[in-house]
Amino acid sequence: MNIQKLKFSHFRNYDSASFSFEPAMIHVLFGRNAQGKTNILEGIYYLSHLRSFRTLKTGSLIEHDEQAFSIECLVERKTRLEDLRIYVEDHKKRLFRYGSPVPAASSFVGIVNAILFCPDDLNLFSSSPSKRRQFMDMELVKLSRTYTSTLSHYQKLLKDRNAALKAFHPDSLLIETLGVQMAKEARILIEQRASFLSLLEEKANEVLPVFSESAETLQIRYKTSVETDSENLEEALLEAYEKSIKKDKQTKNTSVGIHRDDIEFILNGKLLTQTASQGQKRTVLLALKIGLAKIIEEKSGQYPIMLLDDVFSELDNLRKAALIASLPKNMQVFITTSEELSPALFNRPVKFYTVENAKMKEGIYHVES
Ligand SMILES: Nc1ncnc2c1ncn2[C@@H]1O[C@H](COP(=O)(O)OP(=O)(O)O)[C@@H](O)[C@H]1O
Ligand SMILES: [Mg+2]
Repeated sequence: MNIQKLKFSHFRNYDSASFSFEPAMIHVLFGRNAQGKTNILEGIYYLSHLRSFRTLKTGSLIEHDEQAFSIECLVERKTRLEDLRIYVEDHKKRLFRYGSPVPAASSFVGIVNAILFCPDDLNLFSSSPSKRRQFMDMELVKLSRTYTSTLSHYQKLLKDRNAALKAFHPDSLLIETLGVQMAKEARILIEQRASFLSLLEEKANEVLPVFSESAETLQIRYKTSVETDSENLEEALLEAYEKSIKKDKQTKNTSVGIHRDDIEFILNGKLLTQTASQGQKRTVLLALKIGLAKIIEEKSGQYPIMLLDDVFSELDNLRKAALIASLPKNMQVFITTSEELSPALFNRPVKFYTVENAKMKEGIYHVES
């Protein structure tokens, strides 16, 4: 998919700005710090996820001294041109498609599918399991409508079960009934998570050799409360609930289940968090993101939009070129950088822009491949 036009109104440091982009091309946004490069990626990301990757405070996205912002885009998906608009006041978000209101956020998320890689992502490996679950859920939600509805149903049941556990006299029958319903939903989620992670492992390993001098292998291990190859997942889950019921009643909380899942990354047989260097972690993350783009292309027939925020600064020229070469040719890409990137690094057409004080100027170089 390709963003053709993007329009900001009172978004971050952009008062009113329109941009045009080229399909399947790399766009390099170059400029000094604090000029508005990342804000452009943030706007595209917002269209895709309806939230920022930098802040949970919607208010900080609104231009200072303004009351609301809007982001509009024309995005080409397969042969169809989508016209999307988001209008956000501090506590209200309005979504439009071809000018008509879209009532449910879930039918808007994923129309634009953007994948981001920013320096903060390196925390994925060392932060809490919830961040890794979020990573997996965020992608599955965009890939599968059933995943979205199943996950939200599971979360509602979990809330009900926790409330039941908190009652003065917990109703055992209710808790059990909720458990049975949870196990049904959890089975679907476990199967989808497991197959997603095994596919991601396969794709990331295809990309990994491009970046590394030595042969490296990545394993992605899905950690859930039951054996994922259990013959009967639902029964295994019910057993796990049964075993922990005493503890759950004491702590008044559901201690086992997919809301506690985690992912382990293992590089060359060793836990990534324990032995990998910063450089290796970065390499693995890049392989994961590009792997993800390939999965999306296989499942949906089109590449997502790739947003690379400041990821070039710590790579040497060889690795920069390797990263660029590993980006699928048909994928529209946005790269922000505060250092000049030589056109010679690119093996395909690329557009250079300079971003200065919320203005984007264009310079085009066509590089022979
Ligand atoms: N809500 C806002 N209103 C106005 N300016 C903002 C707002 N949020 C951030 N900025 C400004 O945007 C700039 C940072 O933009 P950013 O895209 O992160 O820069 P960079 O070019 O380094 O990626 C800073 O000058 C900051 O003051
Ligand atoms: Mg930036």
